[in-house]
Amino acid sequence: MRNIISTDERGLISMANLKEKEIVFFGGKGGVGKTTCSSAYSLYLSRKGYKTLVLSTDPAHSLGQIFQVDLGAEPRMLEKNLYGIEIDPEKESRKYINSIKEQMKGSFSPIIISQIQQQLDAAYHSPGAEEAAIFDKFIEVIDMVGGEYERVVFDTAPTGHTLRLLSLPELMGGWLQGMIQRRKNINDMMKMASVADKSLAERVKEDPVLDILNRRKESFEKARTFIIDDKRAGFVFVVNAQRLPILETDKAINYLERNGVHVEGVIVNRVMPENIDSDFWRKRKEVEDKYMEEIQERFGDRILYRIPLMEHDISGYESIDSVARIFE
Ligand SMILES: Nc1ncnc2c1ncn2[C@@H]1O[C@H](COP(=O)(O)OP(=O)(O)O)[C@@H](O)[C@H]1O
Ligand SMILES: [Mg+2]
Repeated sequence: MRNIISTDERGLISMANLKEKEIVFFGGKGGVGKTTCSSAYSLYLSRKGYKTLVLSTDPAHSLGQIFQVDLGAEPRMLEKNLYGIEIDPEKESRKYINSIKEQMKGSFSPIIISQIQQQLDAAYHSPGAEEAAIFDKFIEVIDMVGGEYERVVFDTAPTGHTLRLLSLPELMGGWLQGMIQRRKNINDMMKMASVADKSLAERVKEDPVLDILNRRKESFEKARTFIIDDKRAGFVFVVNAQRLPILETDKAINYLERNGVHVEGVIVNRVMPENIDSDFWRKRKEVEDKYMEEIQERFGDRILYRIPLMEHDISGYESIDSVARIFE
């Protein structure tokens, strides 16, 4: 269900709703300005006094570049009240599988362990493993909301990837369910073997791997509950006045809403200035105007902000700050 929204004199809907959210995701096609907007918005929040964590799950990281520091999986302070993380999906996915391997060491005979490890290595390459790993991190972050951090801002990967991530729990549930099933098959095999070995029977009864998998499944469901709670979480799309970003965003909004994820609104980025004194740029502006109309038609009652095209790329505090002020 869409909220009934009133617009201000600039035809923009109020940002007040968004500012209440504990977690905000920025999505959109590659290059439209997701990282720019999430950095600026998190800077805005931190200056309002909220302890804020901004994190990027886009493998093409640039959050650190904007703040001009190296970021990794552990939070690093960027400014007073502001912390940043960059999650590398491949690295996280390897860590995730290794942590499962680690947790089951000592529980089984070497032969069985090598079998399970083969299974886990196969799982690592299977679709959904990276999402599962990012999601694991995501759950960690959700647990910090309201405790360690008051606000969390997600700079997400381009739409396709993010949508897969958020179309949970179906995808994650399926992946984990597959792992759980394979695990149960191994247990069945072990049960048969345990006719001759009583101590094996005990271990099958208390299978730590199955426990871990089941706990993960519960966490995924918890995260899903958070994502679809529109009082706590919001999704914002960044769009440019160009054909593909508009189409992709329209599709993505429909998809998310069909899957119960509330979309808070759209930010139109890189809007050209009104007064232009060259023929070439006037023509470009006409093209932009045409797409602006389309944006108005498709997302009119959802537009949160229009951010002007700046003369330079946005990098470093000064230029982010100029965008952050737009969020005031
Ligand atoms: N309003 C703007 N004016 C000028 N340059 C911009 C603007 N918004 C973004 N950029 C530049 O465009 C490039 C892509 O932006 P970025 O935020 O990294 O996109 P995304 O994260 O969606 O891939 C960056 O070099 C950024 O500095
Ligand atoms: Mg980016």
